[in-house]
Amino acid sequence: MREITPKKIIEMKGKEKIVMVTAYDYPSALIADKAGIDIIFIGDSLGMVVYGEKSTLNVSMDQMVYHTRAVAKAVKRGLVLADMPFMSYEVSVEEGMRNAARLIQAGADAIKIEGGYDYRKLVKKLVRAGIPVMGHTGLTPQRYLRLGGYRLMGETEEEIEEILRDAKALEKAGAFALVLEFTLSDVAKLVTEEVKIPTIGIGSGPYCDGQVLVWHDLLGIYEQVPPFVKRYADLRSIIQLALENYKSDVKEGKFPEKQHYWEFLDKDDFEKKRKKAIEKLLEEPVED
Ligand code: KIV
Repeated sequence: MREITPKKIIEMKGKEKIVMVTAYDYPSALIADKAGIDIIFIGDSLGMVVYGEKSTLNVSMDQMVYHTRAVAKAVKRGLVLADMPFMSYEVSVEEGMRNAARLIQAGADAIKIEGGYDYRKLVKKLVRAGIPVMGHTGLTPQRYLRLGGYRLMGETEEEIEEILRDAKALEKAGAFALVLEFTLSDVAKLVTEEVKIPTIGIGSGPYCDGQVLVWHDLLGIYEQVPPFVKRYADLRSIIQLALENYKSDVKEGKFPEKQHYWEFLDKDDFEKKRKKAIEKLLEEPVED
């Protein structure tokens, strides 16, 4: 069992901020775990940042299982959280249960679903079956068509009520935490105060119990990032420069250098072996 458990995440509320980041492959997850990140999250955002899709709606269960397996192999300390993709849990509680089990069997410690109140029965059943659940309200990208795009949430009385209802339903159903995405910070503060489980914010301000960012956004892999992202590195420029240097070294014959290859020290020995090899080839020509 990994060091960070859902129970530990709940206990961190009010004591220590929770840090969560997405990771989609083995090497990234190794680095995230070494950096001491509390929750390493295989988000369905992989559809956009890894597969170049326009939204997360095309992400399949098979893709989530595949990436969860890679991440889970790397992580020793952090909590491995896997996202339930679009239409993997909406059709029925039974289908949601089976799909959640696939992610747990791939190595996740917990799963996340987008939504709250509408999925309270599923959350309750999953938790009773031993599958820890994180909810997600505010902006839920899997519902961006209904919401009218990726927009700030919580400006109206109705939206504030809906977000609060989701949070309370998740808490009641036994979720161990919830993501609050792109809500006004006052709304995030209200929710954080109203529920006993931790809130993990993304674009929702400083009052949440923790923060989550997408790997490619925080490391500066793409030029365009959502407005609430802080870039902690400019990896795109670093990687591009390295590749340009590699290209010019190869073109100009500067790579490989002496320390990157091996040659016969005894050239006479090589000459003997070369002759024998050529003779053999003449005796037994390469078949068509
Ligand atoms: O898929 C994802 O990366 C997410 C985060 C934005 C929380 O759901």
